[in-house]
Amino acid sequence: MNISIIGTGYVGLVTGACLADIGNNVFCLDLDPRKIATLNEGRIPIYEPGLADVVESNVAARRLAFSTDIEASVAHGDIQFIAVGTPPDEDGSADLQYVLAAARNIGKYMEGFKVVVDKSTVPVGTADKVTAVIQEELDRRGRSDLRFSVVSNPEFLKEGAAVEDFMRPDRIVIGYTDDHDGREALGWMRQLYAPFNRNHERTRVMDVRSAEFAKYAANAMLATRISFMNELANLADRVGADIEAVRQGIGSDPRIGYSFLYAGTGYGGSCFPKDIQALTRIARDNGQTLRVLESVEAVNDEQKRVLTNKVLARFGPDLSERSFALWGLAFKPNTDDMREAPSRVVLDVLLRAGARVVAHDPIAVEETKRVLKLDFADAPALLDRISFTSAKDPIEALAGADALIIVTEWKAYRSPNLERMKALMKSPVVFDGRNLYEPATMKDAGITYQGIGRNSL
Ligand code: UDX
Repeated sequence: MNISIIGTGYVGLVTGACLADIGNNVFCLDLDPRKIATLNEGRIPIYEPGLADVVESNVAARRLAFSTDIEASVAHGDIQFIAVGTPPDEDGSADLQYVLAAARNIGKYMEGFKVVVDKSTVPVGTADKVTAVIQEELDRRGRSDLRFSVVSNPEFLKEGAAVEDFMRPDRIVIGYTDDHDGREALGWMRQLYAPFNRNHERTRVMDVRSAEFAKYAANAMLATRISFMNELANLADRVGADIEAVRQGIGSDPRIGYSFLYAGTGYGGSCFPKDIQALTRIARDNGQTLRVLESVEAVNDEQKRVLTNKVLARFGPDLSERSFALWGLAFKPNTDDMREAPSRVVLDVLLRAGARVVAHDPIAVEETKRVLKLDFADAPALLDRISFTSAKDPIEALAGADALIIVTEWKAYRSPNLERMKALMKSPVVFDGRNLYEPATMKDAGITYQGIGRNSL
């Protein structure tokens, strides 16, 4: 099939590359000529395991092309994916300007039937707006005879596992309009996704608004589990229970299940924070307060301070004589994404309290340097107090440290040499924001250990 993808960001690039990989002819459009040039050289602008290979092999097979030519892109695809950004507005609602600009271009250049797919996460009702904009353009051109239908097909990709998630989806949500053109669009979508449904039907067909809502509801539900576990973990610390034991005790109930029950330093990334704010906003705009969800966000904001609160409780408010090793900068492993990363809050507190920091991350060091320039625009001199390493063995970062603070659960941190850890640090103290180690093991090794909710205060 001929597919066009408008917007070659994270979602657009993964979608385009994976759809090419299953045999479609995919044309990826972006307005940023530098990004397109990079991609045409076979390099990808983001870090995502497996993606570079898929892009490279499909460019070589001439099934995947990148361009800034809008007209050619609209002409190419029978199916037009809109995968542009929906950054939060000042009030938290999703900014639809890029989505609607894409819609306008489709209306401006289309010549035959088009299936227009909203892939970006968009507020309920956006498909109607996209439809109206395309229709307006067609009317303006005097081409009201041209047919199209807008479909909602939200993505559920996790960063760091996006290619795998795309190729082995647990569900494919398609929201369509039950009229003549809508049914035709649904037929196209079913054909497109047929290769993923061979052994097991994964498609969930519904009306457009429910599909738009489902994406927000999924992320809201997952974020709620995390914030709830984080609150329980903080209580566990107070009452002397171990949240890991509690997690296993409740996760074995199939109604609860094990996933997304890990207490930590709070969620970050490009989706949860943005989508939780947007859904909260949608509710308020419709005269309802989502009280649970508003608390989920507030709890998460506080949870990003849980590690530094423990540090300040131990070392006092003035950290100017202290130096810390920090393991993990990215908001989660296998990505260099620093958006809403808890490490930014940790660094903010430590550096502003005067501490020195040696930070390790296998991938995200360059991206961290970029975002810290913005975070510390008011006090750039503080950045002289942080140094970075992405050494294979993260233990080197511990030399002379008063404590180790772990923010991201990269694999390289899972089984450190505890003897060396102890020998390198000034005082062997570990604040573990991801509960990587057993408190008893650390105690036996003579290391003071504070996890999240691990009865180890
Ligand atoms: C998420 C959704 O999982 C995905 O379906 C959606 O399309 C986009 O948003 P992503 O943001 O890539 O994906 O990462 P995810 O693995 O879901 O983790 C999100 C955050 O929650 C991370 O900061 C992670 O550290 C945190 N988390 C996750 C926890 O703190 N505890 C958990 O048990 C699980």
